[in-house]
Amino acid sequence: MKVSVLGYGTVGVGVCEMLQNAAGLELSKVLVRPGKADRPFKVCSIDEICADPETEAVVEVMGGVEPAYSYAMAALAAGKHFVTSNKALVAAHGIELAKCAKEHGVGFLFSAACGGAVPFLHNLVLAVESDRILSIGGILNGTTNFMLDAMQRRGMDYAEALKEAQALGYAEADPTADVSGLDALRKIMLGCAVAYDKLPCEGFSLEGIESVTAADVRHFQSKGLVLRLLVSGGVSQSGKLFAFVQPWLLRSTAAEASVLQNFNMAKYRGQNAGDIILIGQGAGRYPTASAVVRDLSDLLHGRREMMKASCERVEADNSEALCRYYVRVNAADARALRLAQQELDGELLRGVTEAMPVTAMHAFAAEIRKNGGAIFFAAMEE
Ligand code: HSE
Repeated sequence: MKVSVLGYGTVGVGVCEMLQNAAGLELSKVLVRPGKADRPFKVCSIDEICADPETEAVVEVMGGVEPAYSYAMAALAAGKHFVTSNKALVAAHGIELAKCAKEHGVGFLFSAACGGAVPFLHNLVLAVESDRILSIGGILNGTTNFMLDAMQRRGMDYAEALKEAQALGYAEADPTADVSGLDALRKIMLGCAVAYDKLPCEGFSLEGIESVTAADVRHFQSKGLVLRLLVSGGVSQSGKLFAFVQPWLLRSTAAEASVLQNFNMAKYRGQNAGDIILIGQGAGRYPTASAVVRDLSDLLHGRREMMKASCERVEADNSEALCRYYVRVNAADARALRLAQQELDGELLRGVTEAMPVTAMHAFAAEIRKNGGAIFFAAMEE
């Protein structure tokens, strides 16, 4: 199958290299920026790729919603299979892309958009065929995992750790998406679409790692605790779809605590299968390119669908999910919280809440910040 690639950055170069040795696959054209077409296979217009009769599949690794969305729709309408690593695109327009792919009888796969090399969505597609998926989640952002690990094991401060993650090609072009948890949130949105045929589009609870300091990490380390950014998705007992991202404090024996560097850990719980855990590199050139090539190989084997055209947009509801939270806040701002295990350090108060709704903790932190205050919180492992 001949494949054309849109984008020749970190992942695009990796895909082109891997296509040289991938069974049954061959590179046709690569879409590059105007003025960069210095070889015959490089082109600057999507029209040339859509009009190319040899191209059967188009891979998009440019990132961003536009022009990626317009190019994707053009490729699907031209009868090309479409494979992407772009979670922002699929989170925003996956349903339209799935409908367009179905209409034109072609495939639409996006394994590389969620978990890098980890075959999370690939396995989830198979799992939903034979089991009821009770929950999904885990560590789905390589940049923040790399940073938290570097802060803990190498004593780095936040800025140093972010700089190194960027230099290694793990972070998004704008790393705010990584550290704010938005990148991980987009990935759990895709997981929910695959597992539940529902794409959560609002009502999220989102907390990244921007408030964590080197002093916090040292404090956790002294107590034998490890900080990780985890995503959670699933259907509550009353049938509501939940989807949230927040830091968690884990015992060093927890599976997530052993996930180091840029590695991801994707987890799903099947009613019959129980917990399935997949660990691998979640970011970087070759790990991500390997997932793109896996999707192309799936197309060769006739597997064409991850998100169904019937998938619906819904509002997430996190009000039934309860956690106990570790909180570090100015003592003067802590009045509305009942904290146990309190430790006062100058004006800073550290303590642990009773079990409370995820929505309530996130709203409390938003209120403190709205009034100019600072707060760090992390859910506690039970
Ligand atoms: N910036 C993303 C991460 C890249 O760090 O996980 C892979 O999606």
